[in-house]
Amino acid sequence: MTENIILVGFMGTGKSTIGRSLSQTLSYPVIDTDQLIEKQQGRSIPEIFEEEGEDAFRDIETALLRSLLKQSGHIISTGGGIIIREENRQLLRKMGYVIWLVASPEEIYNRTSRNNNRPLLNNEDPAGTIRKLLETRIPLYKECAHLSIETNQLNFDEITTGIIESARYYFSKPE
Ligand code: S3P
Repeated sequence: MTENIILVGFMGTGKSTIGRSLSQTLSYPVIDTDQLIEKQQGRSIPEIFEEEGEDAFRDIETALLRSLLKQSGHIISTGGGIIIREENRQLLRKMGYVIWLVASPEEIYNRTSRNNNRPLLNNEDPAGTIRKLLETRIPLYKECAHLSIETNQLNFDEITTGIIESARYYFSKPE
């Protein structure tokens, strides 16, 4: 496989962890868009949101995706809101096989409430925010992804193996 495997999904669905696991199993380097943005910007995502707001963060995200268009043979794990912009959704589909990691709102709440590094959930009602954001974003993940995986009943090894099998099948099909 020479193309990219790209992970999209809401905050707390395990994109970074699964990305690392795929990277180890396939010996593909991993690109984590959030980490790369923090490295390039020399500041954290909460700092970017606080200093410049969400729109500026989205601009940075789109610029990063454009710059990655020529990459191949990578695992790319993305920030949960990357699918909001249509341009991003199109870029992602061009860049490789897009997998949407799905988890229930309850599971997302449990996973994201462990730390406060997600500016969009740093408010009085994170559970309500998760439900609202999911409502608007689910159609966008669906539109962008080639495949979705329900993660709630599966462990990380099972998810990793499932992704590799389906990616091999996808990349082996004639154009
Ligand atoms: C965001 C998700 C975060 C990060 C930023 C915005 C979102 O990434 O990009 O806080 O809009 O859902 P994770 O999905 O890795 O938490």
